[in-house]
Amino acid sequence: MNAIETRSLRKVYPAPAVKKKRGVPAPPAPPSGGIVAIDALDLAVAEGEFFGVLGPNGAGKTTLIGILTTRVRITAGEAVVAGANVTTQPADVRRRIGVVPQRPNPDRSLSVIENLVFHATYFGISRADAHRRGQELLERLGIADKMNAKVDQLSGGQQQRLMIARALSHDPRVVFLDEPTVGLDPQARLSLWEILRELHAQGRTIVMSTHYMEEADQLCGRLAIIDQGKLLALDTPAALKLKAPGDTLVEVTFDGDATVVADAVRAMEGVSNAEARGPLLRVFSKRGGALIPALIDAGEAHGRIVRDIHLSRPSLETLFISLTGRKLT
Ligand SMILES: Nc1ncnc2c1ncn2[C@@H]1O[C@H](COP(=O)(O)OP(=O)(O)OP(=O)(O)O)[C@@H](O)[C@H]1O
Ligand SMILES: [Mg+2]
Repeated sequence: MNAIETRSLRKVYPAPAVKKKRGVPAPPAPPSGGIVAIDALDLAVAEGEFFGVLGPNGAGKTTLIGILTTRVRITAGEAVVAGANVTTQPADVRRRIGVVPQRPNPDRSLSVIENLVFHATYFGISRADAHRRGQELLERLGIADKMNAKVDQLSGGQQQRLMIARALSHDPRVVFLDEPTVGLDPQARLSLWEILRELHAQGRTIVMSTHYMEEADQLCGRLAIIDQGKLLALDTPAALKLKAPGDTLVEVTFDGDATVVADAVRAMEGVSNAEARGPLLRVFSKRGGALIPALIDAGEAHGRIVRDIHLSRPSLETLFISLTGRKLT
């Protein structure tokens, strides 16, 4: 059975209101009439999967998670999560899912344990059970000593752990985590990875968005790469890596705009693609490092001096760049 299914999912946010100035004609409205955050998205996530959503800033990750967790209203299409329709059965969806939002949003008037008990009893769990489970979760997450502290006395990383404990306090079947490891130190990140692996081993479905390729690679069984609300690729990390352009990615930063250099480089032998982003020139080439002198020469011929050079082997990262033209981080 599928834990998540979306069909032709679409989300358009209203265009920001433009303030009219007297005597000045209003600027033309954007052609779309709004911001398309999710576009014709069909997804199926099986029960028990560890599913990753990768995408650069503004790709639509939080919007997608918002829709699947009933926080964002769908513009068109439909989504079913844990057997319930997010639009017509939102209360059923909420009971069956746990959510770790991108920004911690604990109740600051309550203590740490009260946050957990309040949340769990809201979903029909008895106070005694909620308290016991809350204590267990805080121990597991390494913040049991903060049980009676006010939320404001927690560090950012500790608040993030509290959010994870809260998401698990009513024993959900599907857990959504929106960039859960941002802002954590390397050790806290590794310990969170362990916790996520454990949750997954217990049979829960996990959906996690992230900016970190390594994290996606290590944890997720399948990955969706999205940008501008569209699904660009969906597969296991291993299969995605095989799809990465077999060429080396050479990145050269010049002291000025690289567009003219890119135009010259594109015609060179062994170059499969070249594009400029401001002073950054990205070249996919089988010739790898051997191409570097020619790139330096091409820059000089157009009055550009090289500031930095970087070579990358084919990887999830290079696939991502070839699909989106952007880096993740
Ligand atoms: N409440 C909102 N109102 C209007 N536009 C929004 C709203 N929320 C998001 N957007 C727009 O929708 C698009 C997708 O945003 P979203 O937050 O889903 O991206 P994201 O992939 O989570 O990005 P990030 O990595 O920065 O968290 C962006 O263009 C964003 O500006
Ligand atoms: Mg986001």
